[in-house]
Amino acid sequence: MSCQTLSQLQQSVPVPIDTGSDQKLKIVAFLCNWCSYAGADKAGANQLPVPAELSVIRVMCSGRVEPTLILEAFASGADGVMVLACHPGDCHYKQGNLQAACRAELLEKLLPQLGVDAQRFCFDYISAAEAEKFSRLTSGFCARLQVICKKQVAAKNIV
Ligand code: FES
Repeated sequence: MSCQTLSQLQQSVPVPIDTGSDQKLKIVAFLCNWCSYAGADKAGANQLPVPAELSVIRVMCSGRVEPTLILEAFASGADGVMVLACHPGDCHYKQGNLQAACRAELLEKLLPQLGVDAQRFCFDYISAAEAEKFSRLTSGFCARLQVICKKQVAAKNIV
């Protein structure tokens, strides 16, 4: 399986990362085509709240999301990055989601070493039927990022 860069993956989806200069949060969400993307679709169809700050990158499996893509997203200015996978046992490519979960665990330990708050990264499982969970999780992550960003701005103003 070859690795794609973030910009290559972005070319395959209609929603680009917002690189505007406003103060809006930028959240990159890698969604598995078979589960979380369908869950997001259902959330939209049910008119559930989903943060407008989300830039969705649809992937065929969470196992496709190499850690370098996540780091590239942070380096490109993302305030937060999400990887949402099929539940264990439901991955269409057998163990892609489990590999993604292992990588996420390692990445959460690595991020602070790179100066990135690990709370700015989220890995979770969302099925196609879990529209409410998708709405709750993305909204909660967005709220968490707002708190983190406010703390960072306050810390910069003290220095
Ligand atoms: Fe959904 Fe692998 S097919 S995580």
